[in-house]
Amino acid sequence: MVDVILGLQWGDEGKGKIVDYFAPKYDVVARFQGGPNAGHTLYVNDKKVVLHQIPSGIFHQHTINLIGGGVVLDPVTLKKECDTVASFGIDVKKNLYISARTNIIIPTHRALDRASEVSKGAEKIGSTLKGIGPAYMDKTGRNAIRMGDLLDKSFVTNYIKLRLKHQRLLDNFHFNEDISEWEDEFFEGVEFLKSLNVVNAEYFINDKIAEGRKILAEGAQGSMLDIDFGTFPYVTSSNTISAGVCTGLGVAPQKIKEVMGVTKAYCTRVGSGPFPTELFDETGEELRKIGSEFGATTGRPRRCGWIDLIALQYACMINGVTQVVMTKADVLDSFKELQMCTSYMVNGEESKQVPFQISRVKIEPKYQAFKGWNTDTTSFKDSNELPTTMIEYVNFINTYIGAPVKYVSNGPGRNQIVSLHGEN
Ligand code: GDP
Ligand code: IMO
Ligand code: MG
Repeated sequence: MVDVILGLQWGDEGKGKIVDYFAPKYDVVARFQGGPNAGHTLYVNDKKVVLHQIPSGIFHQHTINLIGGGVVLDPVTLKKECDTVASFGIDVKKNLYISARTNIIIPTHRALDRASEVSKGAEKIGSTLKGIGPAYMDKTGRNAIRMGDLLDKSFVTNYIKLRLKHQRLLDNFHFNEDISEWEDEFFEGVEFLKSLNVVNAEYFINDKIAEGRKILAEGAQGSMLDIDFGTFPYVTSSNTISAGVCTGLGVAPQKIKEVMGVTKAYCTRVGSGPFPTELFDETGEELRKIGSEFGATTGRPRRCGWIDLIALQYACMINGVTQVVMTKADVLDSFKELQMCTSYMVNGEESKQVPFQISRVKIEPKYQAFKGWNTDTTSFKDSNELPTTMIEYVNFINTYIGAPVKYVSNGPGRNQIVSLHGEN
């Protein structure tokens, strides 16, 4: 069977920490979408590590980590990450596997990402500039080079063809940066990639399922950044929701069991686009400061606001979430009063739905106030220790979104997590 851990907001919910926490219970941890735009933070032996493309189970010696076909992979970033992971004594050649179908990000994808953003001016997406959009465009446009193609003798010819096509597009954008250094790094990265385990991942994973092994699918980005269901066009270019597990790994829907959704106890967003509960005042600043809300990939300050139950309920619905992990609860420890958005005013009408035209209409969030717990919760290990005000906050969320919060994360550390149902 396959369980899934994915983000329910606009990313950075703490997926990496939660996957790392649950990984020992699984035989395989697999990434099914996204690429180096992701930044998943883990603490290993109290040292901070940010993973971009390697699944967050890599620090557990007995867990196989698989990069699925739904991912777009940058050989340059992967090589650097593998070096970091190796410095912790982990042999990636042993427990990292890559699907032959994984699409490769080439240097001109990154150049095109930049050129496209510049051309959008004030309407830019706020992309991480890692080449994600252009790489997925080449996938759906049927031009991409895939992991398995790197091993074929036609690779260099196909690379040159694709690069020439990109060059024509870059000329249209009047992009004239010299990217020859990127290319040198790229070919070094490709040589390194060729030394890793490449598999027909759909057979690999289905064979594991047939043997009764436990698989954990790890989402990148967040549901509100999904290409189809997110706040389009301010989204990423892949399906970040649970449906992406099927297409990204080649597993059938009935093989998916638990869908664990990760949400912060408040809300953040990095990059452009609608964010109804964003706070522009000192409360927003406080959330950013206490929560250290700066992008793990780009270092940009994250926009901060109260939890948005409309967006959260929507995300639970489209993902089929069976349980929720609420992270960064400790960030709210010192707040006297908390707010949850329980409806939107859209064009003067109250609504509990995410509108199609969310990027165009002005949404005024309506809030319900809650008493803060005003307690340092960071050392709590047992649900009995949690303040009743926090339990009330959680219970309100459960009822509103129709899925149970089963875990509360109360610090960035590996074991700072409290199970609300007894088993930790
Ligand atoms: P991801 O992209 O979803 O994996 O999340 P990020 O790693 O980008 O951002 C989450 C940040 O919050 C990281 O710096 C984590 O170390 C940190 N974090 C995760 N869970 C908690 C928590 O419960 N409390 C606090 N204070 N920090 C947390
Ligand atoms: P993790 O996995 C937060 C955002 C970017 C931008 C938009 C499109 O760490 O949660 P892209 O580079 O994909 O073209 O950017 O999506 N974005 C993320 N925001 N966390 C992420 O990943 C993100 N990956 C992309 O900021 O608004
Ligand atoms: Mg992140």
